[in-house]
Amino acid sequence: MRILVCGGTGYIGSHTSVVLAQMGHEVRILDNLSNSSPVVVERIGLISGRRVEFIKGDIRDRHSLADGLAGGVDVVIHFAALKSVADSCARPLEYFDNNISGTINLLQAMTAAGVRHLVFSSSATVYGNAKQVPVTEESPLQVVNPYGRTKLVMEDLIRDYCVSHPEFGATLLRYFNPVGAHPSGQIGEGPIGTPGNLMPYLTLVAAGKRPFLQVFGNDYPTPDGTGVRDYIHVMDLAEAHVSALSYVSRNPGATPINLGTGRGYSVLELIQTFERICGVEVPYRIVERRAGDVAALWADATKAQELLGWRARFDLEKMCEDAWRWQVGNPDGYPT
Ligand code: NAD
Ligand code: WQD
Repeated sequence: MRILVCGGTGYIGSHTSVVLAQMGHEVRILDNLSNSSPVVVERIGLISGRRVEFIKGDIRDRHSLADGLAGGVDVVIHFAALKSVADSCARPLEYFDNNISGTINLLQAMTAAGVRHLVFSSSATVYGNAKQVPVTEESPLQVVNPYGRTKLVMEDLIRDYCVSHPEFGATLLRYFNPVGAHPSGQIGEGPIGTPGNLMPYLTLVAAGKRPFLQVFGNDYPTPDGTGVRDYIHVMDLAEAHVSALSYVSRNPGATPINLGTGRGYSVLELIQTFERICGVEVPYRIVERRAGDVAALWADATKAQELLGWRARFDLEKMCEDAWRWQVGNPDGYPT
């Protein structure tokens, strides 16, 4: 297939692009590099042994999208979004513009180019403060911060678009907590600035680049009091996109699908597993809860298995091992 990967130099997009290129798909990446490095394109080529086309451009720019969709594209995979919850609270308009306007623009460009298949990066954030876990795709949806609002609005507008264009197919992939890196250690999570998520911060602490990890609260109603999440290896996510491509090509309409392992781990369990597997100490301090955090969230991943024939293969040990290999080999992230 000819695939346009919007946001393909980012964390999840780069791992997915490697897998797609290795399978012989023609991959064209469109990314404005607002949170990624151009070096990623070389690394994808190096790992996959295949050339991947790259266009530096913004999905809010019609000309960039026209270039991205030129020559016939079978499917668009849409990773391009701003994703920090904290930033979104400080700069909501920027998030609305980038994520929501960008998605409207993308759908308009796809309409003009006659492209009918979309694989969309949604998030477990759409479940907000879920009352019951595990969450299924039918669990109530809820906005708890501006970033989450953008994901819900994007899901909704894709759903509405599918109703108005009955031939159009979209999977709304709700990722839980992606962690880890490609086993080669060549690509991984290389955000610009200080990471807000647990695993990339933990590896910085393990590498001695930060003095300690703050554990945000140990008084949650969970077995050890710390937050519980469904961590999923980024290579498992990448594989799920391959299955979603074939699903979306055969099934019109908008289909939300959880992508998680179906198992939750606490912050302390993650720290302990990391220390055991990587043989490094992770100094930590218990601090106040982080505003907006939920106690526990993990997926019911049954639908992914039923519709996509996909299930996560990698365990927490492998997630830690690969995240650490990436950190050790790339102590300052991608070269600038
Ligand atoms: P990322 O920031 O590493 O990748 C996103 C990429 O999109 C970056 O390379 C960035 O430069 C690009 N981008 C952003 N806005 C753009 C625009 N307007 N035009 C062109 N390119 C643009 O993030 P990621 O972790 O790889 O996340 C990918 C997608 O998955 C996002 O939509 C995110 O909301 C979603 N998601 C991420 C997580 C997570 O924890 N990483 C969890 C659930 C959902
Ligand atoms: C995980 C656990 C924290 C950092 C976020 C977004 C969600 C999705 C994934 C995009 C929690 C604890 C964290 C730290 C800690 N992203 N923690 N110390 O909050 O589950 O989800 O990323 O869609 O929308 O909200 O992920 O990695 O930030 O936190 O104790 O320095 O680790 O309290 O329990 P989260 P996270």
